[in-house]
Amino acid sequence: MSDLVRIYEVGPRDGLQNEAVALPTDAKVRYIELLLAAGLREIEATSFVSPKAIPQLADADALVPRLSEVPGSAGARFPVLVPNLRGMERAEAAGAQALAVFTAATDAFTERNIGMTVAASLDAFAPVLRRATELGWWRRGYVSTAFGCPYTGAVAAERAVDVALRLLDLGVDEVCFGDTIGVGVPSQVAVLTGTAVAAGIPLDRIAFHFHDTRGTALANVSAGLDAGVRCFDSAAGGTGGCPYAPGAAGNLATEDLVYFLDASGWEHGVDLDRVLEAARFAAAALGKPLTTKVGQAGGWDASTGAPTSRA
Ligand code: HMG
Ligand code: MG
Repeated sequence: MSDLVRIYEVGPRDGLQNEAVALPTDAKVRYIELLLAAGLREIEATSFVSPKAIPQLADADALVPRLSEVPGSAGARFPVLVPNLRGMERAEAAGAQALAVFTAATDAFTERNIGMTVAASLDAFAPVLRRATELGWWRRGYVSTAFGCPYTGAVAAERAVDVALRLLDLGVDEVCFGDTIGVGVPSQVAVLTGTAVAAGIPLDRIAFHFHDTRGTALANVSAGLDAGVRCFDSAAGGTGGCPYAPGAAGNLATEDLVYFLDASGWEHGVDLDRVLEAARFAAAALGKPLTTKVGQAGGWDASTGAPTSRA
């Protein structure tokens, strides 16, 4: 297996969608610029969803056309969330080139999140993914509540994998299993990965998205790495959550993930000090203290024993 890990940054999308403050477009552009400067090459930028559902991202039509002018953006990928054809038309008009569709392992969650059952959501995504394929866009499919549902509880790995297979049939390049409310543990990551691989899903088409609600996200990343998965989502500043998933806390913080990967000898191309700059910027823009572990402690210089980049 490769030692190269992809860090898929979701701060500008998941990180901002559940905040009390809606950041101005200029602040989002600056946040993305800092993320690019840190070496992140896949940055989920925003969502083309109903502005009534997620007012914090209602400026997607204005944000996306600016991405190509952000320093460091050449060659970077900026996926956007698209729930339906209306969102696809908006994403296309804005100049997006990569998307993520999003469903879940449980009907109870998708009904609240996007007003459809899982089966209906797959029907809604079919023409979206056809169009994205015609346009040559990169395509991700999320399976939320893959580790547990806030409305119906435990979720069997087979159920999440079944939805992932349907998404792959519809033409996504990658499936991402989401621990939407942060209830998962490493043994579940191992079982879910094994079930996916046994069902024929290649490891390089699997990603994980851990919310750190109960402090298990990094342990889950470690289990994912052991199982052969090499793509993990995180948000600089550890912000995030879903308004339709009660109890969902922030995403795994990019700074915590980068520290962990660095210290464990994985390659990923992202600079910890610069991620911390982006994390501090996001926290300040949102008017919140930076409460992530590495955000508070800083990195650690193994040659001197001293902390570095203290917030
Ligand atoms: P709906 O109300 O069921 O459907 O919304 P609708 O088709 O009747 O539309 C209602 C209104 O929205 C209409 O406007 C439509 O025109 C408009 P009105 O007539 O009332 O003025 N509309 C749109 N406007 C702009 N862009 C669109 C669009 N579509 C409809 N694309 C809908 C269905 C899917 C639109 C809505 O439920 C929605 O936008 N949901 C988004 C929820 C969301 O973004 N959740 C967070 C992301 S998922 C997540 O965070 C989990 C993840 O991180 C992984 C994990 O953690 O597990 C990915
Ligand atoms: Mg999420």
